[in-house]
Amino acid sequence: MGKKRNLSSLYIHFPHCRHLCNYCDFYKSIPQTEDGQYQYESFHSLLESSFERHEQFLAEENYQFSKLKTLYMGGGTPSLWGIEGANHLRQFFQRKQIYLEEDCEFTLEVNPGSWTDEALEAFKDIGVNRFSLGIQALDSRFLKALDRVHNFDDVHKTLQKFNEMKSNFSVDFMLGLPFSKEWNRDVLKELEEILKYEPSHISLYILTVKEHYVHYDKLPDDEWIENEFLKVSEYLQSRGFAHYEVSNFAIKGKESKHNLQYWKSQSVGALGPSATGFLKEARIRYKWKINSPEFVREDLTNEELALEHIYMLLRTNLGLNVKDTFLHEEAQNLFLKKVKEWTERELATVNGDKVTLTPKGYLLMDSLMDDIFSIFPESIYQNLILD
Ligand SMILES: C[S@@+](CC[C@H](N)C(=O)[O-])C[C@H]1O[C@@H](n2cnc3c(N)ncnc32)[C@H](O)[C@@H]1O
Ligand code: SF4
Repeated sequence: MGKKRNLSSLYIHFPHCRHLCNYCDFYKSIPQTEDGQYQYESFHSLLESSFERHEQFLAEENYQFSKLKTLYMGGGTPSLWGIEGANHLRQFFQRKQIYLEEDCEFTLEVNPGSWTDEALEAFKDIGVNRFSLGIQALDSRFLKALDRVHNFDDVHKTLQKFNEMKSNFSVDFMLGLPFSKEWNRDVLKELEEILKYEPSHISLYILTVKEHYVHYDKLPDDEWIENEFLKVSEYLQSRGFAHYEVSNFAIKGKESKHNLQYWKSQSVGALGPSATGFLKEARIRYKWKINSPEFVREDLTNEELALEHIYMLLRTNLGLNVKDTFLHEEAQNLFLKKVKEWTERELATVNGDKVTLTPKGYLLMDSLMDDIFSIFPESIYQNLILD
């Protein structure tokens, strides 16, 4: 066994929410209560046993945690965990000897109506320095149609709080909502209001649901959604936000360091039910089971890794460097021929050896990947640089 590989990013999934929104597919449940108080013991014990299993797995694969550079508490609704959660995490990290770099980006997801002043202070005390707020819409009709449990005032109160704290915070915002056409949703007006609270980052998601979704027949058509997406991209760029990833916008220097780890195909550890981790050098992806401290492991082939790498590079404005990605001229030429078609359709731009998608291209990401599948013979994967 050679030198241990360091793991410096960790995602933890908190699996509880106050209310289960009817469009949501993430793993979550309403916590048990005792005397009107939420109980988190079962999550705490799962975290404990999962950590032990994870330690064993990391050792087998020759990895160890170094001081963390990024830590992301997602969910579910981790802000609901409250002071008890912050204290639990502090002790957990101490016991497990998990330490944070001084400038570690530590993000906590926060839902309107599921936080208290005291809990936010306690989370800041353990190092949280970035918040991701689940705002989704700033119009009470759409909050209701979306089945959000909090109201319009909760949303304003939350934005106001983070503005007053002068925090580094991101806002999750959704497009393609039911009734958008009937009620003529004005997303730019909603976003203009949100920007008054000075978020440094916006994540923009298009609502994705299954066919049994309660408002399935009230969803806007693809053309409406495309128009909304392109309109918002243009607007946010005009307000100083770079469209730096398919669904993400940031003012300079405020890109999500944690998410960039995924997009750059770097290793990220994971804990908590349904959380997914990736060990780059070992070429392993693993996903935690829901009720037991076990995960499903996937060993990735060269082909899978190569295609994922291309997919990830094209997701961000870092773009794909043709010469760095494809070793052989044959592969470079095949790829560039396809890219020429993309540029003619305004889906991509080429700058020297670098190919970057436009917002219109981001919208068609999946079909562009199919294009790539279709042009490359199997042997081409031998020609790709994988690290
Ligand atoms: C992991 S979720 C948790 C965030 C938080 N619990 C909340 O609801 O505000 C992160 C984000 O994914 C987005 N999201 C959730 N369900 C979605 C869906 N069905 N389609 C598209 N985006 C979704 C929302 O914008 C949400 O804020
Ligand atoms: S609060 Fe967030 S994670 Fe929880 S059910 Fe709603 S959308 Fe899903």
